[in-house]
Amino acid sequence: MALLIKGGEIVTAEARYLGDILVEDEVITSIQENIAAPPDAEVIDATGKLVFPGFIDPHVHIHLPFMATFAKDTHATASVAALIGGTTTYIEMVCPSRNEDALEGYHTWKQKAEGNSACDYAFHMGVTRFDAKTEGQLREIVRDGTTSFKIFLSYKNFFGVTDEEMFHTLKLAAELGVITTAHCENAELVSQLQQLLLTKGKTGPEWHEPSRPEAVEAEGTTRFATFLEQTDATGYVVHLSCAAALRVAMEAKMRGVRLHVESVVPHFLLDKTFAERAGVEGMKHIMSPPLRDKRNQTALWAALKAGLIDTVGTDHCPFDTEQKLLGACAFTQIPNGIPGIEERVNLIYTYGVNRGELDIHRFVDALSTRAAKLFGLYPRKGAIQVGSDADLVVYDANYRGIISVTSQHTNNNYNGFEGFAIDGRPSIVTVRGKIQVRDGAFVGEPGRGGFLRREPQYLTKAHAQAVPHVR
Ligand code: URP
Ligand code: ZN
Ligand code: ZN
Repeated sequence: MALLIKGGEIVTAEARYLGDILVEDEVITSIQENIAAPPDAEVIDATGKLVFPGFIDPHVHIHLPFMATFAKDTHATASVAALIGGTTTYIEMVCPSRNEDALEGYHTWKQKAEGNSACDYAFHMGVTRFDAKTEGQLREIVRDGTTSFKIFLSYKNFFGVTDEEMFHTLKLAAELGVITTAHCENAELVSQLQQLLLTKGKTGPEWHEPSRPEAVEAEGTTRFATFLEQTDATGYVVHLSCAAALRVAMEAKMRGVRLHVESVVPHFLLDKTFAERAGVEGMKHIMSPPLRDKRNQTALWAALKAGLIDTVGTDHCPFDTEQKLLGACAFTQIPNGIPGIEERVNLIYTYGVNRGELDIHRFVDALSTRAAKLFGLYPRKGAIQVGSDADLVVYDANYRGIISVTSQHTNNNYNGFEGFAIDGRPSIVTVRGKIQVRDGAFVGEPGRGGFLRREPQYLTKAHAQAVPHVR
């Protein structure tokens, strides 16, 4: 059945205009004023509403064995939460531990998603070890359409890679034309600082930030940039949290390093005082890199407005309060992570566009289009164009609400943004033309989502000539 979205104000990364959108066979087939409804079409009246391309979250954790426990969402719960919040595609981090087989891990992560997600999805392949077997496995994974890697410079002995492993991963990534995303904190410094604090009896969640201060993140970012430069690879810093790391990332870009930057919602809106709250209240806000001194938010918002921060993700990673209390005796045992997949779009729309002067086109770019371009999904995703997948968000900017655990869909017993007001929410969300959400309720097909195969897009001329196409 066709779908006709009539009378909305279409807003993309580049343009804003009134128009109707006709959808047939999962894709957009016409964008014009006053399209006559085909006889079989469902017609949505979008008068007075904004129509955005479906939003893309480039950094989520759904299946995640981590810190002696598992993140709480499944694809079934996370995808519904995502869609209700306007996110129609997410990219999940495949994170096998160092002693797991990479290819087995990849298939485990893929199987968990298959048939269970209500929205489309792709993966970043976590490289948590690089040995004789890894290279062949990564080539196979890239051939399968997963064309981005993830490395951790932190989490020593668990996900973290050595400098030698980072070098080999980036060499291979450059050869294959894939982008490498990186968690940039110096693992050794974190580990030493954690031990120092614990031996002084500093065990509460308020000591998490001092154990991984801004300089530790700036060092990790500098080192990642230097390795990119020496390997001719393209990189993407995930969840950059502070001005010090931003500065070194910008310095690297200015000398020609191909480096992109993501920051995540908590670092724009929450600060370290949330993690300094007593007991479990503080633990709810433990993530890495940690929540920072509030002064960093000015730099992050300015860089986002200027397009120096490319994307806004979530690092969605729900652990409930029982899991957080695993760290009751030592902050080093608190599972790191906070959910946000459901809140990202409404929060950045509210505190960026509506109350903070973030240009609405930059908003669409940072939360959708730029991620699609960086990760090989554009213009299938991240665009409102004839031929693009009909992932559309009809947005009601007149809605007013308050974020609360009582109304959330994420599988968790708290919401890190509890009490935040929101100025707007999606009223209709479609995935390839199928209406999945109406006014805050999931009304669609639970298993509609599919795996998005991507092509490598960072092949240099030298490598393109030397290596036959990877697919
Ligand atoms: O605290 C965080 N960020 N938890 C999830 C794992 C990661 O580092 O992305
Ligand atoms: Zn991380
Ligand atoms: Zn993450």
